Amino acid sequence: MKALEFSGVCFSYGESERPAIEKLDLSVEEGEFVALLGHNGSGKSTLARLANGLLTADSGQISVFGRPIDGKNLFGIRRDVGVVFQNPDSQAVASIVEDDVAFGAENVGLPREEIGDRIGFALRAVGMEEFRTATIARLSGGQKQRIAIAGVLALRPRIMILDEATAMLDPRGRREIVEVVKKLNEEGITVLMITHFMEEALLASRAVVMNCGTVAMEGTPSEIFERHEELLKYNLVLPRIGYLCRRLREGGIRVSDTLDIGTLAKEIASCVS
Ligand SMILES: Nc1ncnc2c1ncn2[C@@H]1O[C@H](COP(=O)(O)OP(=O)(O)OP(=O)(O)O)[C@@H](O)[C@H]1O
Ligand SMILES: [Mg+2]
Repeated sequence: MKALEFSGVCFSYGESERPAIEKLDLSVEEGEFVALLGHNGSGKSTLARLANGLLTADSGQISVFGRPIDGKNLFGIRRDVGVVFQNPDSQAVASIVEDDVAFGAENVGLPREEIGDRIGFALRAVGMEEFRTATIARLSGGQKQRIAIAGVLALRPRIMILDEATAMLDPRGRREIVEVVKKLNEEGITVLMITHFMEEALLASRAVVMNCGTVAMEGTPSEIFERHEELLKYNLVLPRIGYLCRRLREGGIRVSDTLDIGTLAKEIASCVS
């Protein structure tokens, strides 16, 4: 089943503006983990806003689990498609963790007891249960972003879109988020992860590159990384370790694409010993 499907979608922010999304075709299967790459202004955030009905397409069709978004079913669409944005500080709506996580679930009118259960479930899922009554302002960036994810999870979405959710975090915070997202996907949530960290794309089962509001490249992350000249055309550069893996393979050392130096070192060692 397709979790999300864009067919021939066009969208512009204003009549005089260049279309932000142009004839976009993209589908994400249920359970998939897709990384969405693309340089600044290529239309990634617009795609995320269209997918959960924050924006309405000018033409074409967007479906969520087989239901076309039509303006009448936005409530259901927003429950199915959870979006986590970039800035952990602007996403918190309450000062205490549990109130913040509960906010979305309260807004859809769930009973108290159910909300309590969902806060527990969501905080466990992001590994933050011991922070239930903590003050958000005291948390690290990675922890705040995990709380933002928990708030989305409390609505039990079937698809989670992360719009550069790791962009403002340090490497440790980024790792925390990536691990949580990977785990959630293994537990069955469909993930669309927008990122400008190419190495994060390696965790996905499929990578999609956007350019000028449409899909420019698509394949497994390794396939996409192999086409690095084409990536350059779309203003994307491979992380250094990606080039290193490529060069090693060209030189006959059969390493896989990895973002982890330790793994690469082990692979090289086993090839040359
Ligand atoms: N609120 C807005 N009003 C007018 N134009 C906008 C608005 N938001 C985005 N745009 C324009 O739409 C196009 C696509 O922008 P979008 O934010 O979707 O790109 P993006 O791929 O998310 O970029 P970034 O990597 O910088 O986040 C750009 O040309 C941008 O200038
Ligand atoms: Mg964006």
